[in-house]
Amino acid sequence: MAVLTGDDHQIINKASNFLLTGHVVAIPTETVYGLAADIMQETAISNIYALKNRPIGHPLIVHIANEKQLCDYAIDIPNYAIHLIKAFWPGPLTLVLKKSAKISHLITGNQDTVAIRMPSHKITLGIIEKVGRGLAAPSANQFGRISPTCPQHVIDDLGSSIPIVDGGDCVIGIESTIVNASDPNYFTVLRPGHITIDQLKSALTSYPKILHQNKLNDVKVSGCLKSHYAPKKPLILFSSIDELSYYKNKFKNIYVVYHSKLNKPTINGCAISNDPVQFAKELYLILRRADQSTAYAILVEMPPKGIAWDAINDRLKKSSAK
Ligand code: TXA
Ligand code: MG
Repeated sequence: MAVLTGDDHQIINKASNFLLTGHVVAIPTETVYGLAADIMQETAISNIYALKNRPIGHPLIVHIANEKQLCDYAIDIPNYAIHLIKAFWPGPLTLVLKKSAKISHLITGNQDTVAIRMPSHKITLGIIEKVGRGLAAPSANQFGRISPTCPQHVIDDLGSSIPIVDGGDCVIGIESTIVNASDPNYFTVLRPGHITIDQLKSALTSYPKILHQNKLNDVKVSGCLKSHYAPKKPLILFSSIDELSYYKNKFKNIYVVYHSKLNKPTINGCAISNDPVQFAKELYLILRRADQSTAYAILVEMPPKGIAWDAINDRLKKSSAK
């Protein structure tokens, strides 16, 4: 079964019925596919952790469809967070806010904050409206692995017993930017994403102090884990042809992902865009293809530095961590 069939209206009805009766459903978002459960159903939420092999205590993002849900689930929302919401929702921005009593500690990893975002995918917004409550949803992959950007990736990772809403290929292809906005006096980018720090700043006429993530040791976020977003094969970053030759000798059979003009005919692998937005969109698909190849290691050409590349460098750093 897996992929739900019908027109959008029928799919929204089917998916919301599954969710309301305590099942988990894979849903499309503009960033990556999520594995969703009704936030009011603790057994369904526990199932998310079990299906992903995700440690309990690694908190989930609550996906909402309207302002009322935001006010139901978060309290003491700072002014600057309201401005960010106006500028970027619906869209790939997650805000960590103080939680209301309606949000269970199973979702927040026992913290007093909750991560909330309003995705922009129309079918998913329709499902959340129909369910009438937020959906807790991490990315729909095995814990620590590459996020899925199309229904087939979800099936590859989680099998075909979970209902999947087919919303096509994700248009962004990399997870949302996460901002800790739980304090009126400062904000922190906990996970870089499609929305850059410069874009966040330019949406605010005045903004509070921006703290670097390392200054915070009281929040649990993906940045705390050294290895994440990882393929099964070793992933190694290279920045010169000499390094590439070294690894070619070492592993014999390598899959090369490159964005500059390498001598293509001699290389087994795939070119990736040298534009950061397009690079992000292609990255997970290419890493999955590399993982399915016969190569023993995946060699990825080091992307450029700079704010527009922050999210990509963050993911590749973690994908290549041992
Ligand atoms: O684009 C996305 O954000 C996707 C789609 C499905 O929405 N979701 C996603 O979820 O990437 P996940 O679970 O793979 O990553 C969510 C991150 C985790 O690293 C988690 O630690 C962090 O959000 N997080 C959740 N609640 C938090 C909280 N209260 N405080 C700090 N970090 C939190
Ligand atoms: Mg994830």
